Amino acid sequence: MYGIVLLGAPGAGKGTQAVLLSKRLNIPHISSGDLFRENLRNQTPLGELARQYMERGELVPDEVTIAMVRERLSRPDCANGFILDGFPRTIAQADALEVLLKELGKSITLVPWIRVRERMLMERLSHRWTCRDCGAVFSYESLPPREGCKKEVCTGELYRREDDNPEVQAKRIQVYNEQTAPLIDYYRARGLLVEINGEHTIEYVHRLLLQLVLNAHTIHSPASSAV
Ligand code: AP5
Ligand code: MG
Repeated sequence: MYGIVLLGAPGAGKGTQAVLLSKRLNIPHISSGDLFRENLRNQTPLGELARQYMERGELVPDEVTIAMVRERLSRPDCANGFILDGFPRTIAQADALEVLLKELGKSITLVPWIRVRERMLMERLSHRWTCRDCGAVFSYESLPPREGCKKEVCTGELYRREDDNPEVQAKRIQVYNEQTAPLIDYYRARGLLVEINGEHTIEYVHRLLLQLVLNAHTIHSPASSAV
């Protein structure tokens, strides 16, 4: 079982790395931000509620977010593991996740913390384009936006996320430093944290991450603990 929680500031590359890892390990990528954006697109009551917080760069209340992730983690495709991206984001969410995983007979095997300096985060967010249909993200280096999405068979329109404007970016980074960064020590104390320099190329970060995940998997697998 792979139980991966990706930690990192807005723009650190959590989503980018989660997509690659999910394909490689064949386990679902669960992004709380993507789930909220899907609800927004479908104009559900949850989407409407989330909008008020997301457009200000604030966190959606814990109870709502925890309930949404609980439902997602309970689905059968999580039987062999999961990659959480953007959840948990507060100590209360992390505590709730621990309880929830115990109920489901699952556990966290690794918490990679993708580190990127603040100046670079803002630069990346300012150049990010997202596909309206499949949610794929691009930087201006990876694809000229006017060509539209080219992920697999998708031809969706690329757009700039509303919360990627400079004021909301700064707020999101502030919220991360105040409410999410304490999770670094939380998971370090549990022996689950590994630190990755997220300023390398996407491919290089992926290789580092994969190596760490596979090593942790070997250590946690029943066969190796019996040795
Ligand atoms: P969410 O969607 O999770 O946004 P975020 O945490 O701010 O993270 P981002 O998606 O902005 O960054 P990322 O790390 O995924 O970077 P990416 O891979 O795209 O949350 C949005 C909002 O939803 C929150 O503000 C909140 O309101 C709400 N929310 C979500 N979860 C919540 C929760 N648990 N509780 C409460 N509220 C919640 O990469 C960024 C750019 O950099 C891309 O253009 C990419 O191509 C590029 N890039 C990536 N890696 C590299 C690299 N190595 N080199 C060069 N470029 C790179
Ligand atoms: Mg993301």
